Amino acid sequence: LPDGLAKTPPMGFNNWNATGCDINEKMIRDTADIFVTSGLKKAGYEYVNIDDCWAEPERDPRTGRLVPHHERFPSGIEALADYVHGKGLKLGIYTSAGTQTCAKTMPGSLDHEEVDAQTFADWGVDYLKYDNCNNQGRPALERYTRMRDALRKTGRPIVYSLCEWGENKPWEWGKDVGHLWRTTGDINDSWTSMVTLLKQNAPLAPYAGPGQWNDPDMLEVGNGGMTDREYRSHFSLWAAMAAPLLIGADLRKASPATMEILGNRDVIAVDQDPLGVQGRVLRNADGHWVIVKPLAGGDVAVTLFNETEDVATFGATAAELGLPARKAYVVRDLWAHRDFETAGSFSASVPAHGTVMYRIRAGGDWGRRPPLGEFGATLS
Ligand code: DGJ
Repeated sequence: LPDGLAKTPPMGFNNWNATGCDINEKMIRDTADIFVTSGLKKAGYEYVNIDDCWAEPERDPRTGRLVPHHERFPSGIEALADYVHGKGLKLGIYTSAGTQTCAKTMPGSLDHEEVDAQTFADWGVDYLKYDNCNNQGRPALERYTRMRDALRKTGRPIVYSLCEWGENKPWEWGKDVGHLWRTTGDINDSWTSMVTLLKQNAPLAPYAGPGQWNDPDMLEVGNGGMTDREYRSHFSLWAAMAAPLLIGADLRKASPATMEILGNRDVIAVDQDPLGVQGRVLRNADGHWVIVKPLAGGDVAVTLFNETEDVATFGATAAELGLPARKAYVVRDLWAHRDFETAGSFSASVPAHGTVMYRIRAGGDWGRRPPLGEFGATLS
């Protein structure tokens, strides 16, 4: 939606991948606390989002409103929003464009769009994920548009996430309806799932831009089903695709490696680049992927992803990346956090399932380039 919200892909947390329905207000408060104390907030994470199962099975018979689950959210959503706002963060909530949500433990919002949107706005909610279960076979465009209009009517700025799983090609109509749309079914915490979603989401690059993002689902980084190297690939690829970065791990149990991956500001800067272009696959020869993401000011991010089981050396030339011809380029390795110079070949030895990510400073703005000595530069 061209309303100034989600000008860069939303960043934050959602509990679903870590807990499923086993959610409570303490986890949301703890996550907000950790965002602040760990530095993740400073790194850009902002939305703390609640998924399915937060409400009682029945609406309030008097008002028709959804009722926070008395055991999971005893203080209510408004108090939780106050808490999260008090930390300088934002709160997200969830419902489905159907008669019930997917877990079938709470009502959905189909034909209750206005009362639910108003309830969320009254509580101070800043983000809505709108799921697709129990939709009674009614047209997606109509169901998702109704909630857009209901949210708009409240007057509160609320980021609107269409969780339609890519079933009705939401990339073709989503930019007029929401700020982001799921392009795939659900992720799970496995290498195979992550790569499958990459392959579905990558070709949709032309549809993404500020206020309109492809969403290949939330992050699994830190949930234990992949190696840290695979999680670094997952995080790099999502950033290269300008995907929303919604942490899906329980941060109270996160390892230092998980925190370091999620907190990689160099990679986050690629995801959050203000130009808002989703990286495009330059080639994918035998599982050796080269993804190119133009950045504001003429910089370019190159993601070298090795899908195979063997270490491999591959990359791209300056010409292939559309860079102006120069004697040398200043490059930053976004995982090693190291700057170096190269004469114009951007390649690396990439381990099996690993990713090397470079940011090439080629904007012609050589005034920004620190003197070479400060890099501790290697010439390659
Ligand atoms: C399906 C969605 O795609 C998931 O992300 C999650 O929200 C579940 N529903 C909740 O039931």
